Amino acid sequence: MLNNAEQQEILRRRTFAIVSHPDAGKTTLTEKLLLYGGAIHVAGAVKSNKIKRTATSDWMEIEKQRGISVATSVMGFDYACSPSSPTNQVSSGAPITYHINILDTPGHQDFAEDTFRTLTAVDSVIIVIDSAKGVETQTRRLMEVCRMRKTPVMVFMNKMDREGKDPFDLMDDVEQELGIHVTPVTWAHGQGVKFESVFYIDHPDQLNEKEQADMELIEGVYPKFDREAYLAGDLAPVFYGSAYKTIGVEELLKFFVENAPSPLPVEAVERRVDPMEEGFTGFCFKIHANMDPNHRSCIAFFKICSGKFERNVYYKHVRKDQQMRFSAPTCFMAQKKETVDEAYAGDIVGLPDTGNFKIGDTLTSGENLHFKGLPSFSPEMFKYIENADPMKQKQLDKGVHQLMDEGVAQLFVSQLNGRKIIGTVGQLQFEVIQYRLEHEYNAKCRWENMAMYKACWIESDDEEELALFKKRKAQYLAYDKDGRDVFMADSAYVLSMAQNDYKKIKFHFKSEF
Ligand code: G4P
Repeated sequence: MLNNAEQQEILRRRTFAIVSHPDAGKTTLTEKLLLYGGAIHVAGAVKSNKIKRTATSDWMEIEKQRGISVATSVMGFDYACSPSSPTNQVSSGAPITYHINILDTPGHQDFAEDTFRTLTAVDSVIIVIDSAKGVETQTRRLMEVCRMRKTPVMVFMNKMDREGKDPFDLMDDVEQELGIHVTPVTWAHGQGVKFESVFYIDHPDQLNEKEQADMELIEGVYPKFDREAYLAGDLAPVFYGSAYKTIGVEELLKFFVENAPSPLPVEAVERRVDPMEEGFTGFCFKIHANMDPNHRSCIAFFKICSGKFERNVYYKHVRKDQQMRFSAPTCFMAQKKETVDEAYAGDIVGLPDTGNFKIGDTLTSGENLHFKGLPSFSPEMFKYIENADPMKQKQLDKGVHQLMDEGVAQLFVSQLNGRKIIGTVGQLQFEVIQYRLEHEYNAKCRWENMAMYKACWIESDDEEELALFKKRKAQYLAYDKDGRDVFMADSAYVLSMAQNDYKKIKFHFKSEF
């Protein structure tokens, strides 16, 4: 077991993701949380134009251009909190300095895959909802993943400074659309007309008539906050506020650090891994190339699942069966990267990578472990990628290769003619790839549309049937980046015919099966 001080390090960690529909206010809320932690000193609240001035959490040039977050970034900060909030059910006595790791996620639906992967690396989630709009489809899909993983969820009803929906209607909306029981922790003072602050519903103070009536209804309708139910993913505490006007944010933050889970056990194929175990384990959930334009390097983001990670100590790269050590691991403090000597379960460390890692890779103190549950998606849009500058073929190949390792999209190579096909879940990914190839690799590409319905990975216990299938369907076959056979059906008809005619072949719609 870890010693007491090391255990305390883990217990004070809170690793979570903020997820929302684009424009609901995720970036603004993240910034306000960082301000409370003293991690940054200028609020992005005065951003006049996202194109000129980006938020701290947006890293990439294209994000600046498009005003969207397309890459997931990580921010760590410390936040000291006296156990004073009325709803605190955990700590008592001296102030505790919590270590918070926020994983920002791309809101845009074309990057849902990136967001889903990020959810595997967090212990809880805060969902931001634009109170004028209510729950949107994208948020509902993310919630399905949280429900599946039983991730504890808190909800922040943002933009209550604007004329929006009635808070009770919003509660109903969340309950129905997200499929989770809800209970308010804070409520808006003077909502709708003039909204200036929030109050804890457990400790209401000087309420006007309307608020008193609200309170009676609240008591009658919603269950009391129950931490066990929250931790089991059955009950979402709801907060009202405005990230922009910094209303209700501190209440959320305090409640969050006191009630959200410290690092939780993680399931591996072999066994369940407890964060307090002495042996270090972690998995790679994201690879990001060229984060720092001055240093052309990749960074592999590892979530530490157990124990303590140390600089310059040898760990086992399980897939490669190789011992590796890292002289410059980084942690992320607000927008800065810092080299660290040690990091604990719950933390995200960035390891400089020269092509050793893939998403899903495990590092351990020696054990053979494979963590479960990193989702991978079947791409839905496909285009041929063509080199638009014959002098830069090498650069293009390198760029495509690295971006695919990052999990930005999937590469297929036609078995018939060797043409390269990129598969994505949305149009915006093509734009990002093209932009990044040009700006990070000095390579130019062109896209050529192709008719494509679905890509499916094929396998069979019947070698003969598989060989026959491959011969007959040669024009539809491609290799994925690991050299596996993929059937690229150009219509639903072609796919269903193939499934009918070759019963002994299994068609998988995800690359992991
Ligand atoms: P996102 O990361 O979820 O995409 O949203 P972001 O924080 O960028 O916020 C989207 C827009 O909503 C921004 O306005 C932001 O200022 C605004 N906003 C965020 N929180 C609140 C709030 O509590 N109240 C109000 N009234 N507005 C809020 P923008 O015009 O797109 O950008 P900017 O001009 O403010 O930079």
